Amino acid sequence: MPADVDYLRGLLRAFPDYPKKGIVFLDIFPLLRDPIAFETLITHFVHHITSHTIAQSPSKKIDVVVGLDARGFLLGPLIAMRLGAAFVPVRKKGKLPGETIHAEYEKEYGVDVFEMQADAITPGQNVVIIDDLVATGGSAKAAGELVAKLGGKTLEYLFIIELTFLKPSEKLDAPLYSIVKVD
Ligand code: ADE
Repeated sequence: MPADVDYLRGLLRAFPDYPKKGIVFLDIFPLLRDPIAFETLITHFVHHITSHTIAQSPSKKIDVVVGLDARGFLLGPLIAMRLGAAFVPVRKKGKLPGETIHAEYEKEYGVDVFEMQADAITPGQNVVIIDDLVATGGSAKAAGELVAKLGGKTLEYLFIIELTFLKPSEKLDAPLYSIVKVD
């Protein structure tokens, strides 16, 4: 395992039975509290995107970084700025002004709804989608549907942590990249 990944993995904290019994909550905030870790994390994603992700696209550039509500908002804008790309938030229903599009996804209890501003992406733009953690992949899939509805092309889904035992990649229409795999 590369030294940077080792360092980041060592800062993650596990909280058993949070927010409810049976769930081991993985907390990324210690990474953001440590300036060297935060810089390492963002640089890791930017290096991955510029050396691997864009290789799949003839234009060799990312136009839009889409971040998922809420912890994707802590990562996406920094990566977008480094890439010279736009940042676009996907928000929970009812938080975005103007015309919006929506997609539903399954949560542990019932469904939730994600929204994106209808003019946020133009057809043909290259997109990456980012969040802190992927579990079942349901919310990431909904975000991918929003990108597709606007004619964007999702090149990759990016996460710090992947719960591999929940097989999230099987739900997604583009490759999944994660820094830390938990099985
Ligand atoms: N979101 C879904 N599952 C999670 C987990 N185990 N830790 C942190 N965030 C999560």
